[in-house]
Amino acid sequence: MKRVLKIMLTIVLFIFIAIQFYQPALNVDKGQVYTTDFTQVYKMPIEVKAMLQTSCYDCHSNNTNYVWYDYVQPARTLVENHIKNAKQDLNFNEWGTYSNRKQERLLNSIKEQIETKQMPLSSYTIMHENAKLNDEQIKVLTNWLKEQD
Ligand code: HEC
Repeated sequence: MKRVLKIMLTIVLFIFIAIQFYQPALNVDKGQVYTTDFTQVYKMPIEVKAMLQTSCYDCHSNNTNYVWYDYVQPARTLVENHIKNAKQDLNFNEWGTYSNRKQERLLNSIKEQIETKQMPLSSYTIMHENAKLNDEQIKVLTNWLKEQD
């Protein structure tokens, strides 16, 4: 029994080490400034800007502030998939390139996602406490979003 356990642990360790070699490209842009960024397109209070950047930009922009465990597989792949899917739907850096229709739809969608607490993803806020939005912050954000309609 002890021997079987040892063999199993060795296999698990081996797999863990093996998957570390797969490191997809990082979502970093080295401080690029975007004139098409959401925060450039609209005038907004500094607190609204800060909340969006803190709670959304790690997934919905071209620049993620990674933390050490993001580099460890299998988290690495999970994080990169989230970012890919998130950016496909909404990239705040590219807001100005979206059609009016798309912007309108997304503004509504953003408001709804925040209001219903579906965004930021809870699997993310577990590890990123500062990205969590409390009820007061949600109110400030959604009120501002409503004014943009
Ligand atoms: C941990 C990554 C992550 C964070 C942080 C995050 N999102 Fe998302 N978001 C996603 C993913 C992934 C999707 C794609 C849909 C899905 O798989 O659920 C998505 C989808 C969306 C959509 C749907 C777009 C559409 O086409 O209607 C909106 C809106 C959205 N997010 C807004 C936000 C806002 C606003 C914040 C910050 C308050 C935020 N997200 C934070 C990962 C994230």
